[in-house]
Amino acid sequence: MSENIPYGTTYQIYPRSFQDTNGDGIGDLPGITSRLDYIESLGVDSIWISPVHPSGGHDGGYDITSYMDIDPDYGTLTDYRELVDRAHGLGLGVILDFVPNHTSDQHPWFQASLRSEAPYDEYYTWRPEPPNNWQAHFPNWYTDEQGLMHSLPRSAWTYNKQRGNYYLSSFSPEQPDVNWHNPRVRKEFAKIMRFWMLEVGVDGFRADVIDHIGKDPGERDEAENPEYDGTKGWPRDALMSERSCNDRTAITYLGELAEVLKECEAQDGRPRTLVAEAHVRADQYIPYWVDSRVMPFNFQNVYKRDWNARGYKERNDLYARLVPDFGTPTQVLGNHDEPRLVNRIMEAAGISLAEAHLAARSLITTQMILRGRAYTYMGEELGATNAFVPPHQDPDKYLHRGPQRATMPWNSSRNGGFTTASRGWLPPVPHTRENTAEAQQGDPNSMLNYYRRLQQLRRTIPALGKAGRHVPLETYSHDGMPHPDILSFGRTDDKTSNVITLMNFASEATETRVGRRLDDSIILSSTGENPPFVHPNSPDTIRLEPFQAVVLQTE
Ligand code: GLC
Ligand code: CA
Repeated sequence: MSENIPYGTTYQIYPRSFQDTNGDGIGDLPGITSRLDYIESLGVDSIWISPVHPSGGHDGGYDITSYMDIDPDYGTLTDYRELVDRAHGLGLGVILDFVPNHTSDQHPWFQASLRSEAPYDEYYTWRPEPPNNWQAHFPNWYTDEQGLMHSLPRSAWTYNKQRGNYYLSSFSPEQPDVNWHNPRVRKEFAKIMRFWMLEVGVDGFRADVIDHIGKDPGERDEAENPEYDGTKGWPRDALMSERSCNDRTAITYLGELAEVLKECEAQDGRPRTLVAEAHVRADQYIPYWVDSRVMPFNFQNVYKRDWNARGYKERNDLYARLVPDFGTPTQVLGNHDEPRLVNRIMEAAGISLAEAHLAARSLITTQMILRGRAYTYMGEELGATNAFVPPHQDPDKYLHRGPQRATMPWNSSRNGGFTTASRGWLPPVPHTRENTAEAQQGDPNSMLNYYRRLQQLRRTIPALGKAGRHVPLETYSHDGMPHPDILSFGRTDDKTSNVITLMNFASEATETRVGRRLDDSIILSSTGENPPFVHPNSPDTIRLEPFQAVVLQTE
């Protein structure tokens, strides 16, 4: 067999909810360090930690007041250095969440900008009147007589009395957009990146809303979005996202960031990567692969809230065709911004919690077998679900993302073992004695141990590594038509290793014809109670249980 070079998996930590060590109810850096052995045991190769810098507290850490420092809630720079060293000792890379599009309005740059102090007067975008119709991502809320909450559009331009002008704020008013067209600003962020790479030793960055650093220099209006459906999504979706973000300058500036990675690599000989968060159409990802170090997140399977095997198949096959030869594909099923995967599936498919757990396990199987670097949001490996957080108790006043940021269910002690405080800053992920991390550890059929086996496969099967292509694969139902409920694809290294993955999206068992015999194949992985059944008389036909996924090694 050829040598396998795996793509690796990055484990995302929302630090406030991971592990508290000093009893203040807030997760911290020593907490992450204390759980590194657990993370290593999952078989992932790196961790991405959501922001831990001092912040204004309006966007879960994404409104930063000081980029080269640590918020005392989380510890100190020494704690961060220790975490990096211990992670490296276990073979885990550390990815810093880098937030270049906006600062907090409390950041000293913005404070100086308010006073029109050079050079900070030009670090942000100030205009005497709103020059266009650009909308903010974070809406205004109003509560009607029945107590129902409605989101209303909010202009991206916020008036400031002190300077007597409007500033651009594409997210909340407390997050003024930095002016990336200003070369001084770009130098500041390059300096911040060098600090974290060379002084602290991080292995790369997750770049927050990077499509936003490129804005139309002419500040022209956004056109109306012809596909806008007022009953779904956010008010900002009423407009296109072509001028307020995703301008071609985003790619130019991203290219400059890639140069900084390259420069630091040359200095200390350690490889560096950057994963770019860009909320764009699939075909618009292409320029974001600026070189082999930089890759955009593939959110296509996160956005779609349908439950439809054909949709997944088409998105996966399309994505595989888009990735340039030198580019690293990525596979994402969740993060701190989205409802938990199990909840999304339950809602989209209209199924029970138990069925959704099985479906999530199967979908994660497809994620791990698809080509590319995978991202796991903490708790996905346990089948975590949303916690109940009433909007008025949600610290995320703008988008109410508290339910998916619930604290980790480590064990069955109080608060899931997350904190010794009487309560954590959020409730724990809903759990019973049977499905905490500790309980799952001892159960060979648990999601946790299944996840570890998937990681084992990723590391050992050559077709799943860098040598393995994606192979579109159609399967058929008895009427000879493409099977409507089966998601299928292949991977091959064109030598010794061929893998076929099939997943049944239906709540009934089903048979499908694969177009090649399967009775000689080896089951690498299977979800559900029983292994899939291959017909002795028609060895190209396989029977899958409800929501079952199976990974087969064929000749
Ligand atoms: C990204 C982050 C999200 C944050 C937003 C603004 O989408 O993931 O949590 O609210 O950027 O920084
Ligand atoms: Ca703490």
